[in-house]
Amino acid sequence: MKVLMVCLGNICRSPMAQGVLEAKVKAAGLDWQVDSAGTANYHVEEPPHHLSQKVAKSYGVDISGQHGRQLTKDDFVSFDKIYVMDKENYRDAKRIAGDNWDEEKVDLLLNEIYPNESREVPDPWYGGIENFKEVYALLNEACEKIIEKNKA
Ligand code: 4NP
Repeated sequence: MKVLMVCLGNICRSPMAQGVLEAKVKAAGLDWQVDSAGTANYHVEEPPHHLSQKVAKSYGVDISGQHGRQLTKDDFVSFDKIYVMDKENYRDAKRIAGDNWDEEKVDLLLNEIYPNESREVPDPWYGGIENFKEVYALLNEACEKIIEKNKA
């Protein structure tokens, strides 16, 4: 199973989502690959936001080795499941995928916790540490659901 976490910049939300899911995959003994990407190219090659790193680290998750990359059309072939953080990411992902778009593979991450509600992971880019903590808690809960669903 190959899972891709997608946000706008691949610097705040999706790097934390990648780190959290990787930690849970490891703890569950699953043989999965997890990656993340951004719909935009603003932060390609950059490490995650310092507050994403700080909050993840406070939960024992080290994301300091990650580097930003942009989502590609090929990702829609090579990954089995692609989670986006918000509706704008969903629209942008669909545009990037072009004829590789596969509706079955792509979903809003929070639909794992709140099925069919189309809730969004808020963008913490203009916020402070409390916003990053709030995002982490949502990502953690959603990733827990993903693991539970696939362990059964
Ligand atoms: P992310 O947050 O999509 O969670 O990585 C953002 C990062 C950068 C920008 C916006 C959102 N930006 O405008 O540069």
